Amino acid sequence: MGTKGREIVGMDVDELIAMLNQAYADEWLAYYQYWLGAKLAKGPMKDGVMAELTQHAADELRHADMLSLRILQLGGTPVISPAEWMKHSGCGYDAPADPYVGELLVQNIKGEQCAIMTYKKLLEKTQAGDPVTYNLALQILSDEVEHEEDLQALKEDLDILVAGHKA
Ligand SMILES: [Fe+2]
Ligand SMILES: [Fe+2]
Repeated sequence: MGTKGREIVGMDVDELIAMLNQAYADEWLAYYQYWLGAKLAKGPMKDGVMAELTQHAADELRHADMLSLRILQLGGTPVISPAEWMKHSGCGYDAPADPYVGELLVQNIKGEQCAIMTYKKLLEKTQAGDPVTYNLALQILSDEVEHEEDLQALKEDLDILVAGHKA
């Protein structure tokens, strides 16, 4: 923990750590959802979808890393056991039980939209009192906004392709 770094935070640090741990659990679950979905994917445009999901998995793991470092700086402990992830998570986990690419995209778009709201809330909470976490949340939010658009663009192309086959 950085003592002065913690001291300058102008908000309830325990509440902040709890919010960071919620996002941290979300990122691990998102990582696994993408990582497994990329391996299971079936259907048209499979290669493109797999490549995108694999890239997103790497980004979510990097976000978990960034959040863990901030939690430690503040004197907190990142969620200590995977068994606790679901308990802390705000966005939960959508098991990729249906491997169809269109279904995986819909699930992950939903996940990104939840992540966008999580980081928007974190930005609002830290705007006045914690510029370091604010900056972190801003970086992650930018990635999540990009992720949502990547997936929606793929879904649009998939829908056009599928409609074309039916016509
Ligand atoms: Fe993320
Ligand atoms: Fe994401």
